[in-house]
Amino acid sequence: MQAAANLDPLEKIAFFDGIEDQALDPMLTLLVQLRADPRPDTIDLGIGVYRDEQGNTPVMACVKQAEDHLVHHQSSKAYLSADGDPAFLKLLAPIVLGSHAADPRIAGIQTPGGTGALRLAAALMARAHPNARVWLGQPTWAQHTALMRAGGLATIDYPFFDPATQAVLFDDMMAALEGAAAGDIVLLHGCCHNPTGAELTAAQWQAVAELVARKGLLPLIDIAYQGLGRGFDEDAAGLRLMLDAVPEAIVCVSCSKNFGLYRERIGAIWVKASDADTARRARQGLMVAARTLWSMPPDHGAAVVRTVLESAELTKLWRDEVETMRRRLQDVHLRLAAALPALAGVAEQTGMFALLPLAAGAGEILRREHGIYLMDNGRINIAGLSDKTLPRFADAIRPYLT
Ligand code: LMR
Repeated sequence: MQAAANLDPLEKIAFFDGIEDQALDPMLTLLVQLRADPRPDTIDLGIGVYRDEQGNTPVMACVKQAEDHLVHHQSSKAYLSADGDPAFLKLLAPIVLGSHAADPRIAGIQTPGGTGALRLAAALMARAHPNARVWLGQPTWAQHTALMRAGGLATIDYPFFDPATQAVLFDDMMAALEGAAAGDIVLLHGCCHNPTGAELTAAQWQAVAELVARKGLLPLIDIAYQGLGRGFDEDAAGLRLMLDAVPEAIVCVSCSKNFGLYRERIGAIWVKASDADTARRARQGLMVAARTLWSMPPDHGAAVVRTVLESAELTKLWRDEVETMRRRLQDVHLRLAAALPALAGVAEQTGMFALLPLAAGAGEILRREHGIYLMDNGRINIAGLSDKTLPRFADAIRPYLT
């Protein structure tokens, strides 16, 4: 009998040799480049973290106090459950959902950041409707596309914003969404749009809600910057209006920015279903999906948020701190628009980002020659600018605005 020629049981294979080179997403690439830049006066306008006028991202005072409380009073680190901390969810729900927090058709779980919420949303939506397509306004946060596809859903673009005019392309957006089929999903930014800073007006939210209801679409609302735009209730007004208008929806929340808990990974997802029992099943579906993604969400961020929201005093401190951040962001918007009159529209925008109409290749030149780090698509985190750096930034960028 002849031995099989190429089946040597002792032959070793290099397991990972087949892994191809995969580009990091542009955000991570920028972070790596910035960290390797030895110049002392780099300006970081990349990743979306809040910075004060001195360029720092301090731990918020309310968080420090909550952590101090936890050090002394937290009695266990035992698992919670795949749905996280129910007290955290109960306290956060009215802040985000307003009066809808009491709706029995709405059920949610805790997630590792807004990213975790979006990834779970994709898993649940793909389970319910594998052929549904997710409509994404362009431009959008790059991870939106990646997360929806990772969950197994197809994505399709709709126009949202023109950097040259700094205007929302509302008519084009509505015309494109007319092409959506019943059961398709429309992703909307709750407030402080990433990467453009541009928002829908209340009347535009109303028109989108009517279209979504008429065509039987599912709105997927990502709200990651509540409180940093126009105020807590103002920033959630669009999503609440949508919940008023439609029988089904998903809301994905991040506490990274408005609690400054970026690295703790804390967020939530709520599903509005047609009745309470369907909402219960959807919640169970989220927990089942979570078990195979991260099993149980990390607790520390949720414990901090819960501790802040359980205390009237810490809640007041938190709201005051967010208001200080919000006012600084608003002020930078105004200063940026004044320094670059071609971008006057920036003055009306909210949150952490602006999307500048940059010439091709400008990002690379600004990094190399000026130590200014922004996304190649022209997105800047405006919180990275201060009185000191804004004039230098404006001078450097002026020749590259198209
Ligand atoms: C951003 O858009 O900069 C943040 O949401 C951070 C991230 O993960 O991309």
